[in-house]
Amino acid sequence: MKLAFILDPIAQLDPGHDSTVAIMEAAQILGHEVWVTEIHQLSVVDGQAWAKLRPLELVPVQLDSHNWRSVPEWFSLGESEWLNLETMDAVFMRKDPPVTVPYLYATYILELVNPQKTLVMNAPQGLREANEKMYTLQFYGVMPETLVSQDKAQIREFVEKHQSAILKPLGGKAGEGILFLEPGDRNFNSIIEVSTRQGQEPVMIQRFLPEAKLGDKRIIVLDGVPIGAINRVPTGQEFRGNMAVGGRVEKTEITPRELEICAQVGPKLKQDGLYFVGLDVIGGYLTEVNVTSPTGIREVDRLNDVRLGQQVIRWLETQRRS
Ligand SMILES: Nc1ncnc2c1ncn2[C@@H]1O[C@H](COP(=O)(O)OP(=O)(O)O)[C@@H](O)[C@H]1O
Ligand SMILES: [Mg+2]
Repeated sequence: MKLAFILDPIAQLDPGHDSTVAIMEAAQILGHEVWVTEIHQLSVVDGQAWAKLRPLELVPVQLDSHNWRSVPEWFSLGESEWLNLETMDAVFMRKDPPVTVPYLYATYILELVNPQKTLVMNAPQGLREANEKMYTLQFYGVMPETLVSQDKAQIREFVEKHQSAILKPLGGKAGEGILFLEPGDRNFNSIIEVSTRQGQEPVMIQRFLPEAKLGDKRIIVLDGVPIGAINRVPTGQEFRGNMAVGGRVEKTEITPRELEICAQVGPKLKQDGLYFVGLDVIGGYLTEVNVTSPTGIREVDRLNDVRLGQQVIRWLETQRRS
């Protein structure tokens, strides 16, 4: 197969951590062509989606005392050429959030790709549909009590009721802008004003789950089915579990309750073309559905001696045959 990946600048990726690299590496190992591009290198010519693509060669990472080791020159790129994206078997949209206006434009370009010829994953329409915080609300039965509002009095009432809460900007990722709220905080009003831009932008307020100190579980879901998980445990003075803010990664299992959450979310993910997704679960409650560029493969792989990237590519092979 010929596979195109839409990335952030490749030199910024971490080969031992980023799932995108794990998937590209798996594709190469399984004998497929890997091409890369960025969202500002997409275009529409005569109603068809094109991209300025460069062929990629990777030096695969190696396990060295339970950590991934990469060589300094871990990738090499060939000459770029403009190609119709329908010459590819699949396009992986793996640009990191935030979802900006240029990101949305990229999804409109990808919408022009004929799905009979080329599988775009995740589907552009699904990416637009599923804001990572708001989409979770479609599964409210498995979510902690949550309010989305920009109204200070309404937010204060919610926090007083629950005594502690977490505030999340709707466009955030990797722990950015996540705040702990309690009614007695002398900065309370100011926090709400700053984070809602003076009441102009809604934020998510969620009941604080004390189980968060035991970990924020990342469950990787492929085509609606969970394929692996890791637990991310906050370290030091930090209450956030995200790896980007120092969360310690530990081996874990998927519990029956978490399987039930996956069973509720999975069919909707499939329906929306959200083939590769990372669910975040704290204390048995769904807190986030990561669809843009979820990570976790490298950590699941090294802790469980599996190769989820290869599982993704094997799945894709079956899709292309049908
Ligand atoms: N309801 C909650 N109760 C306690 N902690 C939470 C809650 N929601 C999120 N957190 C903490 O904040 C971190 C980030 O939350 P999340 O909703 O996954 O947003 P993102 O990962 O996009 O920044 C989590 O790793 C967790 O430590
Ligand atoms: Mg998260």
